Amino acid sequence: MAHYDRLMELLMKSENIVALTGAGISTSSGVPDFRSPKGIYADPSVDGERVFDIKVFEEDPTVFGRFFAKLYPQMRDGAPTKGHIMLKKLEDMGKLKSIVTQNIDGLHTKAGSSNVIEVHGNIREYVCINSVHHRIPTAELNQDSLLNGETIICSECGGFMKPDVVFFGEPVHNYEKALTQVQSADLLLVMGTSLTVYPVAGLPGYCGDNAKVVIINDSPTSYDHDAELVIREDIDEVAGKLGLPATYS
Ligand code: OAD
Repeated sequence: MAHYDRLMELLMKSENIVALTGAGISTSSGVPDFRSPKGIYADPSVDGERVFDIKVFEEDPTVFGRFFAKLYPQMRDGAPTKGHIMLKKLEDMGKLKSIVTQNIDGLHTKAGSSNVIEVHGNIREYVCINSVHHRIPTAELNQDSLLNGETIICSECGGFMKPDVVFFGEPVHNYEKALTQVQSADLLLVMGTSLTVYPVAGLPGYCGDNAKVVIINDSPTSYDHDAELVIREDIDEVAGKLGLPATYS
């Protein structure tokens, strides 16, 4: 129990909390993570090296299309978890200032969080590989085409379209903004990420000298040894046990 008391103490003392989240905050909503034993890369039918590779997509968009056909409805229909809701509550309490997320599922926004920096993009829009100006809301696309893994063709130039998410070989979105948020935090709350994919994995190292890093993740991460507090448990369980009050005096 001591680590819950410590976590609550840190949350209540802090006034400028920034969350850094990854796929593990969404798993209980039915969206799989990548690297755990039940994750996307453990599925033998998925070639993890290739599905999110921009060069592979440009040559053969069906590799991604077939893979995304299964993931898309899980993300589209997923509901925010207790972890997402806990962060929204911390925002409502005036403590949490922003969320830097690697997730593309949009669940922080669905939970009502307002300052969400989606460094790996999101699935709300499709964008053409020829021009970032050629884009269309995903909800306006033929849903059966997406569920069948068909290639989406740009109506303006005939190019291949993909969700507006960052593939390996592409720059992350809003990195400078994410970095500024992390540097200004008094508490960085890392949740549900293995911290293996750079540049995001390096962000905790940019926290200020007096800032604290807390990690809530059910398996080890690359930053555990430097964190103030590591809670190696299920995120929903942690969020449930905290039962954050709407206001705190
Ligand atoms: P990972 O799959 O690498 O890490 C998710 C972490 O969450 C793992 O360490 C799990 O053990 C943990 N986890 C899962 N469910 C949990 C739960 N309910 N409670 C607590 N911990 C839980 O996912 P990310 O770190 O987000 O990039 O992966 C980073 C990037 O790698 C992704 O954004 C994606 C991928 O390649 C791109 O697609 C560009």
